[in-house]
Amino acid sequence: MAYVSLETLGKSAQKTPQTPANFIGKGRASRQRHLLSTRAIDSDDVDEFCQAAEAFEVGPASAPECARKTVALLFFQPSTRTRIGFEAATVALGCHSIGMEDMSASRSNARTGESLEDCAAVVSRLCDALVVRHHENGAADRMAAKSQAPVINAGDGWNEHPTQALIDIFALRRGLGTIRGRSIAFGGDPRGRTVRSLIQLLRFEAPKEIVFCPPSHREVPADILSAVGENQIRCRTIRDIKYALTDCDAVMMAPYDMSDIGEPAASGYVSPNATPESHIITAEKIDRTRSRTLLYHPLPRQDEIDPSCDDLPNAMYFEQVRLSKFMRMAVLNRLLSRN
Ligand code: CP
Repeated sequence: MAYVSLETLGKSAQKTPQTPANFIGKGRASRQRHLLSTRAIDSDDVDEFCQAAEAFEVGPASAPECARKTVALLFFQPSTRTRIGFEAATVALGCHSIGMEDMSASRSNARTGESLEDCAAVVSRLCDALVVRHHENGAADRMAAKSQAPVINAGDGWNEHPTQALIDIFALRRGLGTIRGRSIAFGGDPRGRTVRSLIQLLRFEAPKEIVFCPPSHREVPADILSAVGENQIRCRTIRDIKYALTDCDAVMMAPYDMSDIGEPAASGYVSPNATPESHIITAEKIDRTRSRTLLYHPLPRQDEIDPSCDDLPNAMYFEQVRLSKFMRMAVLNRLLSRN
């Protein structure tokens, strides 16, 4: 497996960002119409998306290809960051977002029975791109199969959340300078779609090791362990998050139980599993271990990162959100410019 070289990563952090409008992708995703999975992204894509996001961060958006285009936001499942993030990105690019506040009030719901395929066939004739979140694995793929416009997977059940993974890589590079040679820990429920998507991208970054701190009643899913193993990345499991605070350069936290991500909207699901003290990060633990470990989280959090951490230099999770707008601009710009 080809890794991005240290030189490439170092330069990408220091390089003067190029103009997104002039951006010609070399990566695999640049030849694809949709963004459904990080499996379809290669190391060139990751570098190119990060460079475009940097350009959007430092300069005025220069994306005439996007002006006046329309992006449909189809959120069949709750969201704050992804939904508002894509809306913010469309505004910044000079395009428009359309959609329904509550997809259960559309005709494409379980009660009316219109299929996801028909929903995609219809909506894609009214817009230039679709952003889809759904509680079923593979929902975005099904819609892409019938869509006339590019489809972006904004989280499908337990499966994937590719734009979040690109944001995570962008934010990890920003905090650490480079991921190469670093130890990256995953706290909380390891089954989530954000973990599955991020692991696929970390294989290009050559970290020193991946450390999982799962709940005692959960194993790390076999496909996630295989992805780490196939790429010869060292991997171990710990049972107390304090070891991540002493041994790792960054920890990507997640709720202790993410079972709600496979649930339809308003299902009323409540996790029966409270986060034990051994899996919670607090300012007191960081102070006690003199930890300089950077704290990331796709959010929303429950109690796995105590708010006492929020003002520490370790806390990167709100900066991760700020950076997310520029990465979503980069993704929209790529897909809208090609179609
Ligand atoms: N990180 C993330 O996907 O958050 P939302 O569920 O609020 O979109």
